[in-house]
Amino acid sequence: MADPILSLDKVVAGYGDTTVLHGVSFDVPEGQRLAIIGRNGVGKTTLLSTIMGLTQMHSGQVTMRGHVIDKVAPHRRAGTGLGLVPQTRDIFPSLSVEENLLSGMRGDATLEEAYTLFPRLKDRRRNGGGQLSGGEQQMLAIARTLMGRPDVLMLDEPLEGLAPVICDMLMETFETLAADRRHTLLLVEQHTELALNFADRVIILDAGEIVHDANAETLRADPSIVDRHVGVGLTGA
Ligand SMILES: Nc1ncnc2c1ncn2[C@@H]1O[C@H](COP(=O)(O)OP(=O)(O)O)[C@@H](O)[C@H]1O
Ligand SMILES: [Mg+2]
Repeated sequence: MADPILSLDKVVAGYGDTTVLHGVSFDVPEGQRLAIIGRNGVGKTTLLSTIMGLTQMHSGQVTMRGHVIDKVAPHRRAGTGLGLVPQTRDIFPSLSVEENLLSGMRGDATLEEAYTLFPRLKDRRRNGGGQLSGGEQQMLAIARTLMGRPDVLMLDEPLEGLAPVICDMLMETFETLAADRRHTLLLVEQHTELALNFADRVIILDAGEIVHDANAETLRADPSIVDRHVGVGLTGA
């Protein structure tokens, strides 16, 4: 087996004195499509935030391509190959679409790439971020993160609150990004069926711990496992 691109080892983390993650360990091989699911409040966002260095890590280790990054400041973690599209879809509402994209740009990334992936953003490039629809804001948040040239792209509930037609379009985009294993994708999603159809592997979190870690096929074949831990069944999509 090749070395993992991202590794968490017994990560204990939270906010101030509050511990949310109670010893989370997993390795992500390069190019994997990993879905992370679980009920509200179990620590999915905290997990992605911790990988980006945005929480207090009490113990454990996060490793990217063999380098421990625990001491790397959050704003420098993009430089290690990590990119996060937060659940809050952080964009600058008063900047234009184009300015938003330029603000995330690193290395040899180009606006044209963003516009090829999301032609809609090209039509809207002179509009303010705050003038966009929810779906367009999510496209912009994703495109802006991609301008940072991440190897590992983390998406925190990217479909939340969006119309089914936009959800389908975004899932196709994630397929494109994952094709040829160009990106490693960590997808946190409440639309369990869409997440399971997309993923190679699924981690189920409950109360800050991994309660299930299996290939997606196993869970697709036995939805009762998901029902037991997530309790929404496969009707969430
Ligand atoms: N900024 C914060 N400060 C303190 N507690 C937080 C903060 N953000 C989240 N929490 C708490 O951490 C726990 C996990 O939250 P979160 O990671 O957002 O869960 P999920 O993304 O799975 O819904 C919850 O109990 C939540 O109340
Ligand atoms: Mg969350």
